[in-house]
Amino acid sequence: MVSESTTRQEPLILGIESTCDETGVALVRGCELLADRTATSMDEYARYGGIIPEIASRAHLESFLPTLQAALDEAGVTFDEVDAVAVAAGPGLVGSLTVGICAAKALATAIGKPLYGVNHVIGHLAVDKLADGPLPERFIGLVVSGGHSNLLLVNDIATDVRELGGTLDDAAGEAFDKVGRLLDLPYPGGPHVDRLSQQGDREAIRFPRGLAAGKDKERHKYDFSFSGLKTAVARYIEGTRERGEDIHPENICAGFSEAINDSLTAKAVRAALDHGCDTIVVGGGFSANSRLRALLAQRAEAAGLAVRMPPLRFCTDNGAQIAAMGTELVRAGVKPSEWDFSPDSGMPLTQTSMLPDAD
Ligand code: KG4
Ligand code: ZN
Repeated sequence: MVSESTTRQEPLILGIESTCDETGVALVRGCELLADRTATSMDEYARYGGIIPEIASRAHLESFLPTLQAALDEAGVTFDEVDAVAVAAGPGLVGSLTVGICAAKALATAIGKPLYGVNHVIGHLAVDKLADGPLPERFIGLVVSGGHSNLLLVNDIATDVRELGGTLDDAAGEAFDKVGRLLDLPYPGGPHVDRLSQQGDREAIRFPRGLAAGKDKERHKYDFSFSGLKTAVARYIEGTRERGEDIHPENICAGFSEAINDSLTAKAVRAALDHGCDTIVVGGGFSANSRLRALLAQRAEAAGLAVRMPPLRFCTDNGAQIAAMGTELVRAGVKPSEWDFSPDSGMPLTQTSMLPDAD
């Protein structure tokens, strides 16, 4: 799988990411990031208020080769030196994934290297090794993005990931984007709601916490629900307008952000304590959220837990997370994928890679 000449040195993995609007290509050896290049088509969606899959797929097609070339130049390596190619196989937009997977299959075949189809959401956790060093053997993963809000028990990031819970409705980033829309903020609303929330009073408006009381609290120990909260924000805005009172977007954002982050952090800490894990690793676009970072650090410290949060540049989708995932699969001796795998837009979080069929 990995050539003799590299056994003394860690294998060099080329990672390709095209799950949504970012075309990412990165080169990683062990915990070292040699290059990380990203092109994005996000600017094209501002006027639509959401990603248009058709546009995203075409943008990947246009960006892939220039991004690949830029990454190879930045790392100063040739294809001969690459030991394996890793590509995001899901979850994501089928058209976008297809472009990246086709490119990865063609590339890996042409250079004669093994190919791994990897789970990009697990990659959001794997990328942390590039900032904070080798991952702990066992940890709780909190994956928070536009499409996911999940708590995972990670026994081995390459081979043993279990899902403890997730959102029953909206993901955290999705809820932020929807509240951004209610407040007429530009798309995507998440970072704007975050910025405004920092200027507001967290105590001014108390919004409800989903699944936080009674039977729901026990039945959905590690699950989240944010759609009721989003409705509460919509009603609050409507009611304030009807009464002819002034809206204070910064207080709405601060109260809303507090409700989401209270749930995320309380349940992440509880999951770690319940499962005897001493570390929480956070990943995904929403892990850029300022209140999540502050509140989780505070609550984890109070509970005697360590938190690993990737730097902001690793939070949104990128090739580095796919390459980092590739290094972990090679390390664990996982078999490469077969050439005929397809994208899986709903790839389960317990599936770390596209394994070959059992013989
Ligand atoms: O992981 P990601 O890049 O793409 C998905 O796989 O979904 O996450 C994007 C999501 C969007 O919903 C965006 O609004 C949100 O992450 N986001 C934020 C912040 N930065 C990005 N949400 C809240 N606060 C932020 N600072
Ligand atoms: Zn993602």
